[in-house]
Amino acid sequence: MFKVKTELLERDIVMAFEDLSFKAGSKAILNTVSHELKKGRFYSIAGCNGSGKTTLLQTLLQIKKASSGHIHVPDYYPNKAHYLSYVPQNTQLEFDFSVEEAVMMGRYPYYSGITGPNSEDKQKVLDAMEMTDMINFRKRSVTTLSGGEKQRTIIARALAQDTPVMFLDEPVSQLDVFHQIEVLKLLRQIADQENKTIITVLHDLNQVAEFTDEVMVMDKGRIVAYGEPIEVLNPELLKSVFKVDSEWICAKDTKPHLIFHY
Ligand SMILES: Nc1ncnc2c1ncn2[C@@H]1O[C@H](COP(=O)(O)OP(=O)(O)OP(=O)(O)O)[C@@H](O)[C@H]1O
Ligand SMILES: [Mg+2]
Repeated sequence: MFKVKTELLERDIVMAFEDLSFKAGSKAILNTVSHELKKGRFYSIAGCNGSGKTTLLQTLLQIKKASSGHIHVPDYYPNKAHYLSYVPQNTQLEFDFSVEEAVMMGRYPYYSGITGPNSEDKQKVLDAMEMTDMINFRKRSVTTLSGGEKQRTIIARALAQDTPVMFLDEPVSQLDVFHQIEVLKLLRQIADQENKTIITVLHDLNQVAEFTDEVMVMDKGRIVAYGEPIEVLNPELLKSVFKVDSEWICAKDTKPHLIFHY
């Protein structure tokens, strides 16, 4: 389990990690990373393929056991699933469940197998399907869904779990542009209105800047920069980390937009 540090509560910190490393053999996949995650903030993690983003999330979730370092939370959570939800990268949904049953799995940590889901569980499942535009698919077998519909089902499952902290690994990677925007707006709203903490891996740096409060940039297993996206994602950093030439442009009356030169 996590280590409890009650003083984090006063500082509105939902999770803090310190010198966290994960090694595969002698190779450090995650190399002494530290950070604090605050209540109500929407964080993004950006970085090249293989930089350690998924490994960081999975180490924080304790799916992967850290080789060294600490993960602190502000209180004792006997049931981790009441605190953290997780949308994995590229999840498979190959079993023959309906969408509604798959989303109901997000409520498994709450209800007893004997009594079954109560009206609150059922309502949260309906709300989550509504929020992800999956309500019309509720009776469909997940095996018949398209890639993006499956991804939205997994997001709905995490929303139904209704946890104060949500980890999402590339949650919009398979979505059409409309649903990408809808999901990111929804996550923004959840952070703002429900004071939940969202940590999302994103490759689209314009989405990072548009929707998230703070980006952590990873490179070779380390967090090499963090902070407000437009400041952090400057041309020098994008050149050194992502090996691309870039420029922020700001047309009249529009938000800054990152463009790439090639
Ligand atoms: N058990 C392991 N053994 C060897 N290498 C591993 C192991 N686990 C992860 N890696 C390597 O560690 C690196 C980081 O993997 P990770 O999945 O965290 O990358 P990522 O930043 O999420 O990349 P992507 O953008 O492609 O999803 C990769 O190069 C991966 O091949
Ligand atoms: Mg990954």
